[in-house]
Amino acid sequence: MNSHSQRKHDHVSICLQHDIEHKASSGFDAYSFTHNALPELNFEDIDLSVQLFGRTFSLPLFISGMTGGYRDAIDINGALAEVCCELSIPLVLGSQRSMLHDDHSDSTFTIARERGSNICISANIGATEIAQSIHHDGIIRIIDTINADWITIHANPLQELFQPEGNTDFRGVLKGIEDCRKRIQIPMIVKEVGSGISLDIAKRLHDIGIDGIDVAGKGGTSWSAVEMKRNEKEHSDYFKEWGMETSDCLLSLREFCENNNLALLSSGGIRNAHDIAMSVAMGAKSVGMARPILIAYHEGGIRHVKMLIEQFMKDVQRIMFLTGSNNCNALSQAQFKMNQRN
Ligand SMILES: Cc1cc2nc3c(=O)[nH]c(=O)nc-3n(C[C@H](O)[C@H](O)[C@H](O)COP(=O)(O)O)c2cc1C
Repeated sequence: MNSHSQRKHDHVSICLQHDIEHKASSGFDAYSFTHNALPELNFEDIDLSVQLFGRTFSLPLFISGMTGGYRDAIDINGALAEVCCELSIPLVLGSQRSMLHDDHSDSTFTIARERGSNICISANIGATEIAQSIHHDGIIRIIDTINADWITIHANPLQELFQPEGNTDFRGVLKGIEDCRKRIQIPMIVKEVGSGISLDIAKRLHDIGIDGIDVAGKGGTSWSAVEMKRNEKEHSDYFKEWGMETSDCLLSLREFCENNNLALLSSGGIRNAHDIAMSVAMGAKSVGMARPILIAYHEGGIRHVKMLIEQFMKDVQRIMFLTGSNNCNALSQAQFKMNQRN
């Protein structure tokens, strides 16, 4: 295995074997919905579908980017594509960095398109790769090879800081994204991987033509904690808990995204139906999950992943009923309040 394949393998096995989650939650549990005692709705008529970049999906949910680039990733990406096909939700692939350097790993990503010919698939590349113009032809290739519907760029400075082989030169990322934006026809989304995106960064990304922000905030998988497992010499509780909570990010970006037609996506520590529904109420167009999906796949394959998502969505539908929301637009207007602190 080359170093990239080894790293992608390590990430999956560490996320399955160790508790590498942030201690504090993503913040949604600090808020409660206002109960509607007179919903004036038939529960069965509630519509969970959402529209994103001109396409309709049956649920306000997507699978966040995880893997690719090593042998076992073929099974994972193929299975996740099948789930997305059956449930009609988008799939974000893991970093396609390996495809920039050789074509041996192509099949670990193209399997998703083979198993999900009609699904919406996002390509995925890191901020430090896009910063280098030498990679821009390669980025077009990784989009074309999987016939991607959009591309997600992950900005992960905290992870790179603690990754033994991390790239900590983040100069030129904004310019790289701007230059690539001019050459790429599909929607471009920028995400974090668990530390969140602030309003100031969202504004800078909007200025260069980005179409969506996935805040990927703190409260779920801690990528500094994952990398510290790969590098036992490094240990810092302070940096394991670094970042901005997902709920805080949504609340601070909502108005700007709505006023500027920027798709706001929620992820990072989404662990139950309340987190999903509250994300939509806080302005998210769709909501992503990573590690819980990987764990469900590991425990029971496609069946368990589908069961997990279906159970969450059944409960989201119940929340919609109890807030009088007949669709996701109505849920986005649902009232909620911060819980009293003791
Ligand atoms: C095993 C694993 C591998 C990941 N690899 C990538 C990746 O290659 N690219 C990326 O953008 N995000 C990657 N992520 C980060 C997730 O997309 C997500 O932003 C982060 O884990 C927070 O979500 P969670 O709390 O639901 O896990 C990975 C997550 C997991 C669990």
